[in-house]
Amino acid sequence: MSHSIKLENIGCLIIESSSGLEYKNDTSVLLKGDCIESIGSGSADTIIDCKGKLVTPGFVDSHTHLIFNNLRIQEHQMRLSGATYEEIANNGGGIVSSVESVQSATPKELFNIAIPRLDRFISMGTTTIEAKSGYGLNTESELKSLNVISKLSEKHAIDIIPTFMGAHAFPVEYEDKKDAYVDLVINEMIPEIEKQGIAKFIDVFCEEGYFDIDQSKRILQAGISAGLKPRVHADEVHNFGASLMAGEMGAVSADHLMKIDEKGIRSLKNNKVVATLLPGTTFFLNKDSYAPARKLIDEGITVALATDFNPGSCHIQSMPFIITLAVMKLQMTVEEAFLAATLHGAKSLGLQNEIGSIAVGKKADLIIWDISKLSEIPYYVSNHPIRHVIKNGKLVFGS
Ligand code: NIG
Ligand code: FE
Repeated sequence: MSHSIKLENIGCLIIESSSGLEYKNDTSVLLKGDCIESIGSGSADTIIDCKGKLVTPGFVDSHTHLIFNNLRIQEHQMRLSGATYEEIANNGGGIVSSVESVQSATPKELFNIAIPRLDRFISMGTTTIEAKSGYGLNTESELKSLNVISKLSEKHAIDIIPTFMGAHAFPVEYEDKKDAYVDLVINEMIPEIEKQGIAKFIDVFCEEGYFDIDQSKRILQAGISAGLKPRVHADEVHNFGASLMAGEMGAVSADHLMKIDEKGIRSLKNNKVVATLLPGTTFFLNKDSYAPARKLIDEGITVALATDFNPGSCHIQSMPFIITLAVMKLQMTVEEAFLAATLHGAKSLGLQNEIGSIAVGKKADLIIWDISKLSEIPYYVSNHPIRHVIKNGKLVFGS
């Protein structure tokens, strides 16, 4: 018999409705095993008193670069003195400066350094993350990163969805023969990943100085042929036609979009691509041009929010803080931001029927808050009033 938990005395429960979110007052939720069994009825082995407060689904962070082994605090300092991300990257910083330390690390070292990060995600209410490889940049280290992701997901309470991102940057030794690196990704990395079955998605950084449209298409196509679903880092620094390409390639998600144009917006809309916005990156890079969230939402495009957690451009893990940025900098309503941080992230991962909202039959991934209303989440900004987090039907944070 599977264990059951009843959350009683819930003041306000956020559930999914056809129009987005619905509030249910003075109710309860019954969890059985790892799923939600019923809402408003039933009895259980264990009772949790929610003290008349808010209960929501756990956050789904659909864009992280979890596997890295060095911090880049000096780059943050340089930006504070006026240098831009691009200048720093052109002078030996940026993505490639995180590669050596991943290549030389053992799987055990990468595993151990990621565990406290995962504990932190859980403590801030995130119950599922997507995690990309992309600091290995050779076959051995890209596979090592994906294998560590798979081990972490198995051993840690949080669920981790793996994305292969060998096309994150060109390794320095390929600077003068970029197409040879594209060939390596296509002919060596992707076949081995398919053989091991260790990734669900493939992502490409389609950007000036990184992978051009043609190289991105070739890599995504090879991934698709190997059973991986495409995601794209698109129109982050320059408008490069990357969103247009993401639509044409049938990407499930186009991410960043700070520089997206009308054509790109049309392409996402017509091809039902989720627009994943990462306002933490704009904030962390000390920029002021946030992605045009309002326009995307008003066009009817599904907008998700995620952290982009990585050592260089966004060292942020908190989804409540991302919600704060969304309401203050992206002009999103708190309901839109909340939905974007949960169900829409799940949708970009193809998991909208399993996670991302509180509904009977879905995974029992919930947050019991110390606040009464959704609008209090962005008000608290940096200290998150979370009392308990439940993942797959088990209490994993708070006691
Ligand atoms: O999503 N845009 C590309 N990749 C990361 C940057 C990672 C890094 O600087 O290490 C991003 O912002
Ligand atoms: Fe990213």
